[in-house]
Amino acid sequence: MPSVFFETFGCQMNVADSDMLVHALLARGFYNTESCLDADLIVVNTCSVREHAETRAKMRIGQYARHKIKRKLNQQIWVIGCMAQRLGKALIEEIKGVDRVVGAKDIVSFVNDIDGVISLPKTQEHDRSPISAFVPIMRGCNNFCSYCIVPYVRGEEQSVGVGQIIKSVRDLVDGGAKEITFLGQNVNSYRDGAVDFPDLLEKVHALEGLKRIRFTTSHPKDCTRKLVRAVATLPKLCKHIHLPVQSGSTRILGRMNRKYTRETYLDLIENIKSEASGIDLTTDIMVGFPTETEEDFLQTLSLIDSVKFTTAFMFAYSKRDSTAAATMPDDVSPEMKKKRLVRLIEAQTAITKDRYGEVIGKEVSVLFTERQQGRDKMWMGQDNGCKRVLLTCEEDIAGTILNVRVGRSSGMTLIGERISS
Ligand code: 5AD
Ligand code: SF4
Repeated sequence: MPSVFFETFGCQMNVADSDMLVHALLARGFYNTESCLDADLIVVNTCSVREHAETRAKMRIGQYARHKIKRKLNQQIWVIGCMAQRLGKALIEEIKGVDRVVGAKDIVSFVNDIDGVISLPKTQEHDRSPISAFVPIMRGCNNFCSYCIVPYVRGEEQSVGVGQIIKSVRDLVDGGAKEITFLGQNVNSYRDGAVDFPDLLEKVHALEGLKRIRFTTSHPKDCTRKLVRAVATLPKLCKHIHLPVQSGSTRILGRMNRKYTRETYLDLIENIKSEASGIDLTTDIMVGFPTETEEDFLQTLSLIDSVKFTTAFMFAYSKRDSTAAATMPDDVSPEMKKKRLVRLIEAQTAITKDRYGEVIGKEVSVLFTERQQGRDKMWMGQDNGCKRVLLTCEEDIAGTILNVRVGRSSGMTLIGERISS
């Protein structure tokens, strides 16, 4: 049996794409190996969103390729995903030893036509679904935020049909999934005919056996009152919205082509908090966008202070060729970007600590998914928002939702105590 080793960089969409390809390969007799260097096939799924992500992926691919050539291995190396889309066949030229490049736009059709590439017969699949599964509902992005490479590498928005989504969710639930996460670069611009994203949520909500629904990522400009109402009122919808703000300065948001202002973003947050109190809000923030001044940056600090995000992903701006921002002066020095990033991370870390502290002594509802590696009795799960919870428990509680009292928090993890039921 041939073996395959996967390495996935970047966002959850890449994780979902890797899963889809793994699934197709396993169904044709491959087995997953952790031993990367001797695998018959190495697949590296790449990200292009920041330069650093590409550098890291290239380093890894280079290591695999050099090892393969040096040892004269009969091994295939495939590079897939966003960097594969951006650089295309040039990657095969650049890194000797790479056999195949499949861009992000072509992954779905590549997997559908896998029998043209792998000449092993398809076998019967018996595998169980993961307890928490990703379901891509739309691909691509039409927003063209001025800093972002995604619309170029993933192409135009395309929504998956409602019927197909419902069938996928049904199959996952029948296979043992309890929770699904709808994925898309911009899930709330989902549309299939008259069905918009909140309508889709309502339809999927009705599926028996499904316990929880999550989604990511939302664009603030498309986060409608109807969606907020759905999150607030549909019990299976987790109380968590990831709402990338990018900057707290209206001037910078304009240059980023985000199509909202500081004020409209804060209004939206007020609306969400009043409809769904206690909800977890998380975000993405960037520092050092072209022309960002200290004053703009202070606006970002004051915004996070007023929103009190549970957590945030924070980045320094990275210039990407062919985007609109690449024509603007990249005039914030690397040192200044770094300084601002450190200040931002410090401020948000304190807020995160407070947000986690607030739930100590309270009861949370947790879906447990797996044991912590190497610790048999330590179970990991997630509350109804976005917080990770650990619980010591003798029994197998994979896939169960339990009410747990939060004893303490340790970094970004809550330590739970079982409530006798
Ligand atoms: N530089 C830095 N961060 C970026 N992001 C997207 N493009 C860039 C870039 N050129 C960040 C944004 C986005 C997240 C996925 O990555 O914050 O929300
Ligand atoms: Fe990039 Fe903006 Fe699209 Fe998100 S919404 S993928 S940041 S262009």
